[in-house]
Amino acid sequence: MKIVAVLGSPRTQGNSAGLAQRFLDMAQELGAEVQKFFLNTMDFKGCQGCGTCKTKSAECVLEDDLAEVLEAIKQADILLLASPVYFGDISGQLKCFFDRTYSYANPDFTSRVPSGKKAIMALVQADPRAENFNDIFPRYERWLKVFGFAPVYLLRATGVKDPGDINQQAGVLNQAAALARELVTPAP
Ligand SMILES: Cc1cc2nc3c(=O)[nH]c(=O)nc-3n(C[C@H](O)[C@H](O)[C@H](O)COP(=O)(O)O)c2cc1C
Repeated sequence: MKIVAVLGSPRTQGNSAGLAQRFLDMAQELGAEVQKFFLNTMDFKGCQGCGTCKTKSAECVLEDDLAEVLEAIKQADILLLASPVYFGDISGQLKCFFDRTYSYANPDFTSRVPSGKKAIMALVQADPRAENFNDIFPRYERWLKVFGFAPVYLLRATGVKDPGDINQQAGVLNQAAALARELVTPAP
């Protein structure tokens, strides 16, 4: 079983990375193969709107570091997207990645991604009020479902600000480990 994690925070030791890592650690313990991409350390552009993926090519024609990520996801069983909440949305880094998944859609918006994959979003925010920014997940879940990812799971921590704060959130960390146990088929 292969898992691709796309990490959207510039803080490699931050809260969203920590939450994602709890899922990945348990998944690896169960035998999953994990590939992690820290977007902030990579060289890439957002979608250029060239439309070539809707006319001449079934893939994004930009030749930058995201080409490998977009291909790895097509080969994976599980996609994990992790991000801090920035101004009520995912980080700019992850949004630029997300826009590049436009290339996953055929001209009629059917999906080019092989079916049968699951996705997880790990979202963290400083605001402790869970009712704030709960609109983020449904917006991205919608498009992940268009691409055929199902189900799409949410891991969410509120009230985490500084790196390490996530370690005080046993509830969501346990939820991450439990989700890995649920989704990862133990290697024989
Ligand atoms: C540019 C910026 C914008 C932010 N916007 C929000 C916000 O809209 N709502 C919120 O609750 N926290 C906001 N935060 C706080 C982060 O979501 C919080 O510190 C989070 O734990 C960072 O996750 P990370 O450690 O994975 O980077 C913002 C932080 C930054 C740097």
